[in-house]
Amino acid sequence: MLDREKELMKTSRKMKTKMGMSTRIRLVVSVIAIALVGAMTSACTKSTPSLSKDPNVELIQDMMDSPALKAQDYEPSNPTKSSSRLPPEGTVPVGYTPYKYAGNPVEAAQKLKNPLAGNMSVEVLELGRRKFDIYCALCHGVGGAGDGTVAPKMALKPPTLLSEKIVGMTDGGIYHIITDGQGVMSSYAYQLVNEKDRWAIVNYVRSLQKLGTKK
Ligand code: HEC
Repeated sequence: MLDREKELMKTSRKMKTKMGMSTRIRLVVSVIAIALVGAMTSACTKSTPSLSKDPNVELIQDMMDSPALKAQDYEPSNPTKSSSRLPPEGTVPVGYTPYKYAGNPVEAAQKLKNPLAGNMSVEVLELGRRKFDIYCALCHGVGGAGDGTVAPKMALKPPTLLSEKIVGMTDGGIYHIITDGQGVMSSYAYQLVNEKDRWAIVNYVRSLQKLGTKK
């Protein structure tokens, strides 16, 4: 009996110490939790400008200072001291088709095919006339004879577009001059962004040539 009692007491003491341990762990955890919540709320109150002018407390610092560079930031390691980098060579903006024959009129004249070839419909010629009158007539003249309003003031006169040379030029050749320029005439690709407008001008020039040669 005595032994049995002793045995029972031992187990109960063991259980007590066990319980004591877990209670202590729980207590420590709660203290830490309360401390954390306290720190967080105090951090929050500190960030409210009306309550404190102290800088914010950063609990998780990586979230405020990310290693990624912000656009147009100061960046001393870059020669330009800017976080912005030049795009790699050959980068093309979305929706932009690079012109294959830049600086290459001979190849353009041979290889470019007019998608509106022979299309002398009212719609195409009307579009061509509108664009020609806006962008070309001031130099080359409304009829294409090289007698535009600014021509008298120009040192190098704009040539006639009714000449044998231009009559014999391929549609691609004329398209290339509109797109890439020639000599002192600059490119009109920025004004005539739509390629269809340029081809419509080519067709309109052809119609002017037909009228011009009849005279
Ligand atoms: C600011 C005046 C000006 C405007 C605007 C202009 N051109 Fe020209 N164009 C010239 C001059 C000047 C030349 C001669 C350039 C050279 O060869 O140095 C030329 C040359 C040309 C030639 C080649 C002529 C040849 O005999 O070699 C063509 C074709 C032509 N232009 C078409 C056009 C078309 C189409 C437009 C409208 C999209 C246009 N040009 C707008 C001034 C102009």
